[in-house]
Amino acid sequence: MTTTAETNSRLESRAGRFFARYYDAMTARAEEKWGRPLRTLMFSELTGTVLEVGAGSGANLPYYAKARALTAVEPASEMRGKLLRRAEEVELDVEVVDAWAERLPLPDDTYDTVVCTLVLCTVVDLPAALSEIRRVLKPGGQLVFFEHVRSPGVVGLLQDVLAPLWRRVAGGCNANRRLLGALRDAGFQVRVHEVVRPWPRYPTNTPYVRGTAVPLPLTAVRDRRG
Ligand SMILES: C[S@@+](CC[C@H](N)C(=O)[O-])C[C@H]1O[C@@H](n2cnc3c(N)ncnc32)[C@H](O)[C@@H]1O
Repeated sequence: MTTTAETNSRLESRAGRFFARYYDAMTARAEEKWGRPLRTLMFSELTGTVLEVGAGSGANLPYYAKARALTAVEPASEMRGKLLRRAEEVELDVEVVDAWAERLPLPDDTYDTVVCTLVLCTVVDLPAALSEIRRVLKPGGQLVFFEHVRSPGVVGLLQDVLAPLWRRVAGGCNANRRLLGALRDAGFQVRVHEVVRPWPRYPTNTPYVRGTAVPLPLTAVRDRRG
């Protein structure tokens, strides 16, 4: 099975559709408490062209106060329906695209910023997705992310144990993804702005990292890898 077919069957399975249908209700409290201030901080000053990967139901859309245009990629049909409705409510010029992070049907060197929030834990082929993000970023562009990552210490070991079960019940989310290392391996220079451990703390989703990642020139990546 190819990565995209695998992703598709997972997102469109009964569990996947259930997750998509009730996602907003399940996250409403967290959104109220820390999601909104965080999204304001992250997106209100972004300018130029923005690509959001795995835009879900469009939780970030109201916060792009200064962006010129937004392309919002979302492969799950249930989520995409909500996203389309939200896109009509904002003043921003939004294009909604049915696609996967691993294979973006978008031209090279196009976006000033790529945004990922709570999505890189879920993509099946993370190196492919990061390579695509790198490809579509303009020279000088940046990836802005907020994601949960594998915890250090005992919690990380617990995440390793829980990961297979959690993937099944949480729409394919990987509890123990080593995102920062994967970004570096994909040739990004990573800057962590904040490590967040919101309360209540679930062992499958902690800590969260807010950061930016800038593609290094390919020569620097080759040198680094020897
Ligand atoms: C937890 S939701 C987060 C939605 C939104 N970014 C937010 O901050 O609320 C994860 C989203 O990623 C999408 N997704 C899952 N696998 C994906 C992939 N391979 N490529 C792009 N999006 C994907 C899911 O359909 C879902 O809408």
